[in-house]
Amino acid sequence: MLFLFLLSSFVFKGNADTIGLNVSAGPKQNYTFPKDFLFGVSTAALQIEGAWDADGKGESIWDHLVHVQNPKFAKDGSTPDVAADSYHNYKRDAEMVHELGVNIYRFSISWPRIMPKGLKNDINQKGLEYYRNLLMELEKYNVTAMVVMYHWDLPQALQEMGGWTNENIVDYFADYAKVLYDNYADKVKYWVTFNEPMQVCLEGYGNTYRAPKLNQTGFADYLCTHNLLKAHAKAYHIYNTTYRPTYGGQVAISLDSNWAEPKTESASDREAAERYLQFHLGWYTHPIYSAEGNYPAEMIRIIDEKSRQQNFSQSRLPKFTPEEIEYIKGTGDFFGLNHYTTYYLTMADKQVGAVPSHANDCGIVRFQNPKWPSKSSSNWLRVVPVGFRRLLKWVSNEYNNVSILVTENGFADFSGVHDAERVSYYGHYLNALLHSMYEDKTNVKGYCAWSLMDNWEWDDGLTSRFGLFLVDFKSPNKTRTPKDSAKMYAKVIKSRSLPDNFDPTDFSAFSSSNVLLPSVLTVVTLLSLT
Ligand code: NOJ
Repeated sequence: MLFLFLLSSFVFKGNADTIGLNVSAGPKQNYTFPKDFLFGVSTAALQIEGAWDADGKGESIWDHLVHVQNPKFAKDGSTPDVAADSYHNYKRDAEMVHELGVNIYRFSISWPRIMPKGLKNDINQKGLEYYRNLLMELEKYNVTAMVVMYHWDLPQALQEMGGWTNENIVDYFADYAKVLYDNYADKVKYWVTFNEPMQVCLEGYGNTYRAPKLNQTGFADYLCTHNLLKAHAKAYHIYNTTYRPTYGGQVAISLDSNWAEPKTESASDREAAERYLQFHLGWYTHPIYSAEGNYPAEMIRIIDEKSRQQNFSQSRLPKFTPEEIEYIKGTGDFFGLNHYTTYYLTMADKQVGAVPSHANDCGIVRFQNPKWPSKSSSNWLRVVPVGFRRLLKWVSNEYNNVSILVTENGFADFSGVHDAERVSYYGHYLNALLHSMYEDKTNVKGYCAWSLMDNWEWDDGLTSRFGLFLVDFKSPNKTRTPKDSAKMYAKVIKSRSLPDNFDPTDFSAFSSSNVLLPSVLTVVTLLSLT
């Protein structure tokens, strides 16, 4: 046992990893958050609301997935039918937001709750009422609302017309956005058109990981993105011309990105890492935030070339007209960034088969180091705070020191209110953010923790918990209880600084365990690596 303990402390404290874990080689800095730095907390409609068919709500593609397509989609067989029942508990939710002392609550609106079939001829008044009540409750506590219009729950009726591959969806989304602006612009300061569009298109249209599980990579994922970017730009322009003069709010989009660390210092690995970032994050951000607009030039070049070699008469990557490029460019008042973890990147040895796919187009391999701390219920979530700092710098360099709002960041565990790992994760990632602001001079304006409460974590169902508040899913009221991390976050917000006992070299929360198994696994992994 002593051997196991010594070995794991060696692994997690004195790491010999090429990227390192600590965000800075220097001594501990006591940087503080500026007075006007915005703190927030995030959720999403489908993950918390439940009431999946209550009061006239229409079916979403996720309802359809878990009821019809594949009832076993979530690991634990759960559905989001009830989730944390926020449809009935929104007053408690607003109270929790208030208890944390955050400035911003970022939540999403369910399109089918407002427009059951996705179209404007049928608007559900009860749905409108629900979000108005929530907004009034937040106002009572002086909390600023950040509203996400689309966090993945498309009305199923629109999916049956092709969803994001049907160009008409640009206008349907614009109609939906107008309904939201007409009803809530007086109460919403920040609008986010889409949350993590890459998950929608790459994972939902290109793979089977998200609804609607189309699994048509190399085609549907590109089409989906093309229409989604146009829909985003249209919703932005509508606000800009018609609503901004009166309400003065801001509109942007939330993009997800891992940090891509080159496996070695070689030119080829550095190119692989850069290509990964451009083919994932850049695919969405270059058209909106770069000076020249359009998809990244290298991405266009590679996909056009491969399409030619594969005998297609036109590129699988759709083309924007010069007018569309101009129309999409500049449609972000800030850069919404969701970030959780880091990968190593290297070039693929052989091209991954001749079959057209986004992965084949990209031509890289990504992997994580099993030595990076984890102990998370999400198997992809390894703790590499320095990756966060590097990603913030990459975004700033690439997009002219754009204003960044971190719209999601957090850690998942299996449950419990004494969540030392989450407390440690937040300490390390907020420390990385402070170093980014003070040492790299990035323009980070705010940070939203994911998530306010435990919720339905997509294919992980109810087994993977990201909440600052624990939800007792078995209790009739879905009782919410603050975890240690909620108390820690509230203190950070109040003091504008990291906890006094925070140690940037200490990753021990992720090493010792209440159970023997993770230590044994660590040792086995280590032995197999040597
Ligand atoms: C990003 C997504 O926006 C959110 O829905 C999800 O729960 C978290 N990441 C954690 O996986």
